[in-house]
Amino acid sequence: MKHWSLNFRLWHWINAIVIFGLLGTVFLRKTFLSYRTNSEIIMDKLSDINITIAKDQAISIARAVRSPMWDWHIWLGYALAALVVWRIVLFFTDSGKQNYQNCSEKTTHDKIVSALYVIFYALMFLMAGTGLALHFHDFLHIGEDLGHSIKEFHELLYNGILYFVIIHIAGVIIAENKGDKGIISSMVGKSETNI
Ligand code: HEM
Ligand code: HEM
Repeated sequence: MKHWSLNFRLWHWINAIVIFGLLGTVFLRKTFLSYRTNSEIIMDKLSDINITIAKDQAISIARAVRSPMWDWHIWLGYALAALVVWRIVLFFTDSGKQNYQNCSEKTTHDKIVSALYVIFYALMFLMAGTGLALHFHDFLHIGEDLGHSIKEFHELLYNGILYFVIIHIAGVIIAENKGDKGIISSMVGKSETNI
């Protein structure tokens, strides 16, 4: 069974919470707080009381309603950027490098698992980079066209993060029930030989 230092376990669970939070803000933006749907509702409800407003005005109200929620995407985004730096520091600890050592002795399954983690770290790094570039586009003098491409890339990477989370959680649950008993608790609790 692998052993994880307290430092690593803290990183893992804070990272999980931040990623869930970011995915939550995206979910809300695309569903209950979608400006397209809500601007229609605003126009419909106002017309019921004989008030007519232009589509642009309704969109601007719907965006204003969404804005405090989306601030969370930015705050959690800063946290994600800090977590990238924290993970790089952890690579220099025994816990942080154990999944990436002695690869030639690993089974094919373990090689695939480690490769998936490396892909996730690359996604996390690019997500933080593109997210910060979008947020600071004015300061970085990023023009409209480039900004648009960065946003499309950021959204594309989002799918990768989503698939990783689903595969990872399903994977550790399956492992826990198939011969790797204790894999989940090793990432939760303290163990005598934590490294
Ligand atoms: C609630 C659900 C979760 C559980 C039960 C869980 C459990 C685990 C366990 C047991 C490991 C060690 C697996 C191994 O040794 O190969 C692990 C590793 C890892 N988890 Fe999770 N995890 C969860 C959520 C997440 C989320 C949401 C993320 C981020 C998207 C994440 C990212 C990672 C990464 C990157 C590693 C690899 C650590 C390394 O570099 O060695 N986990 N997780
Ligand atoms: C796992 C990490 C992240 C995920 C899954 C994610 C997801 C997304 C998605 C799907 C969008 C497009 C929303 C839409 O137009 O419908 C978006 C936009 C954006 N994200 Fe992220 N993001 C992440 C990290 C970050 C980070 C680290 C930052 C930096 C602070 C950031 C800042 C932004 C900004 C500024 C936008 C553009 C919003 C706008 O056009 O109004 N994101 N993000």
